[in-house]
Amino acid sequence: MSDYSNSGRNRDSNVPSAVQSESSARTTVTITGTGSCIPEKILTNDDLTKLVETTDEWIVSRTGIRERRIAAPNETASDMAVRAGVRALESAGLGPGDIDLVIVATITPDMLFPSTACLVQDRLGMRNVCAFDVEAACSGFIYITEIASAMLQSGRFRHALIIGTEKLSSILDWSDRSTCVLFGDGAGAAVLSREDNPGEGRVEVVDTLLGSDGSASNILYMPGGGCRIPASADSVAAGYHFLKMNGREVFKVAVRIMERAALEILQRNNVPLEKVRCIIPHQANVRIIEMLSERMKLPMDRFHVNLDLLGNTSAASVPLALDEAMAEGKISDGDYVVLVAFGAGLTWGATLLRRHEKSL
Ligand code: ACO
Repeated sequence: MSDYSNSGRNRDSNVPSAVQSESSARTTVTITGTGSCIPEKILTNDDLTKLVETTDEWIVSRTGIRERRIAAPNETASDMAVRAGVRALESAGLGPGDIDLVIVATITPDMLFPSTACLVQDRLGMRNVCAFDVEAACSGFIYITEIASAMLQSGRFRHALIIGTEKLSSILDWSDRSTCVLFGDGAGAAVLSREDNPGEGRVEVVDTLLGSDGSASNILYMPGGGCRIPASADSVAAGYHFLKMNGREVFKVAVRIMERAALEILQRNNVPLEKVRCIIPHQANVRIIEMLSERMKLPMDRFHVNLDLLGNTSAASVPLALDEAMAEGKISDGDYVVLVAFGAGLTWGATLLRRHEKSL
């Protein structure tokens, strides 16, 4: 496997991007709105004991998860994405006509094609919009934050709607206790805007790093449904259309990757740990987050955790937690916030955010 250090777009540069942007024009990318959608149906650990041989005690002690949301049979990833997107637009004070870029991160698109982003664009009545999906599993939202930021910085786009949405319940083997207890459904969205003179309180996307290592693709994957194993009666009978995971391997790698990514994004922007108000990690397992807290020497109360009620929602996990953290006021004036995630691929990434006290 790769060395997980020193990844991302500034690998060959000794100049942190925050410093680079200080010396050039002050065009910034800011988060102007966030929104969420969680399905109504709650599936508790006790409910799961009726499906597989497990206990509430095992699930809580090994994962921290108490319940998760499950989408209705006719509720799709695009349905949840649209609802989260509408809320993000409302919180940004923008309408669908203001958006010129839509990017959706998902591993459970409504269909293999067309993209879920195109379905969202149509449902929101957006016109003349660039729309596409990105598949980077649980790191998906960090990936689309970077892609949207770069496209906005190019000057060709003004406002981007970025959404992580998942109906993981549709790819789970509900007879496999080692995976079905971990995941849930939902969507989280953000509006990113290019602003020349961002107003007071704006949350700036300061920097993002991304990485990948396909040599570990076999520890978390879904074998069927692509061109290697197209859908057939045999592939369905063999369970190839379900998520497969080597939990122990994923656990070990996850802790190492997230620690490296979070520390590197801070280091290359010269931000000391004590200036970090909140870390918003991918919500996979509270034990992973606790080990991260221990290794980074940052107390657990600096980590935003909502997996107890939502489980692991893959690409929706970070934006759902971000929306919640914003609503709870965890991103205060002058503070730095780090988003950090890992996922199938393997993929990983970290984003540094900062809320400004006054106009830049
Ligand atoms: N209830 C009861 N027992 C269970 C359950 C369950 N739900 N699941 C597994 N067990 C049993 C196993 O069969 C095993 O029994 P055995 O010792 O008799 O063989 C025992 O519990 C221990 O199993 P382990 O897999 O070693 O348990 P572990 O402590 O590693 O916890 C877990 C498993 C929770 C999956 C953990 O490894 C983990 O969280 N890994 C990371 C997973 C993750 O983050 N996935 C998300 C990736 S994000 C993405 O990209 C989609």
